[in-house]
Amino acid sequence: AARAVVVVAAGSGTRLGIGTAKAFVPVAGERMLVRALRTVLTLAEPTLVVVVAPADRMDECRALVLDVAGAAAEYVTVVPGGADRHASVQAGLAVLPDSVATVLVHDAARCLTPASQFERVFVAVAEALAAGPGDGAAAAAAAAAAAAVSRVRGVGVVPALPVTDTVKRVAGDVVVETVDRSALVGVQTPQGFPLAALRQAYAVAEQAETDDAGVFQAAGGVVRTVPGDADAFKITTRWDLGRAEAVVAERAG
Ligand code: C5P
Repeated sequence: AARAVVVVAAGSGTRLGIGTAKAFVPVAGERMLVRALRTVLTLAEPTLVVVVAPADRMDECRALVLDVAGAAAEYVTVVPGGADRHASVQAGLAVLPDSVATVLVHDAARCLTPASQFERVFVAVAEALAAGPGDGAAAAAAAAAAAAVSRVRGVGVVPALPVTDTVKRVAGDVVVETVDRSALVGVQTPQGFPLAALRQAYAVAEQAETDDAGVFQAAGGVVRTVPGDADAFKITTRWDLGRAEAVVAERAG
């Protein structure tokens, strides 16, 4: 397969307060990882899948993959994750064959993300490859040169939605200013990249970046947005879990 999806599912879910790895928490009776995996397995073109699992739940995760994927389990690899998301993504990227051109990195915690969002990101990465880096490239090259980092080549793609809240910059509890929300978006996953370029970016990046696009951009890559989907929200708190169950109930209609 020329394309792959890395599903990161090694987080502890501390903020959910359930005391178990988050991706193994059920949403309306079905674990987040099962929901995320099932969507990935519906993608039309052949796609390799890497599940990055908590190191102490490898056997359970392999059993879960067999259960969900059936015969397609031969396209799914399970690897143990690391101490933070950064390390987990690197562990996932490490096991992909070099024949993979495009990789998407997806949070298992965004388990209701529709398949159409994966396809949108794959298409946008392919279009960017065909078109070349374009306008943003010159600016990125200049920024990379200024920061003396070697610039990774290629274009990354992130799904993004407008910010609806009024956003303020604060110092402690004092409001400093209102931030112009028209220039802001919230980003989701899956985030898509040429595999070789993303690996290179992870090899040089600071661990402080909180998403793959941040890692890619810090290494000098260009990142574009495509429209996100409200259902691709990340389940972090109990409130999010309730929202997810409402979405599932609505889909069951
Ligand atoms: O903790 P947070 O919700 O930001 O995690 C986002 C995604 O990264 C989740 O799907 C989680 O399972 C994954 N993750 C991971 N390894 C870690 C920390 C987070 O795979 N060490």
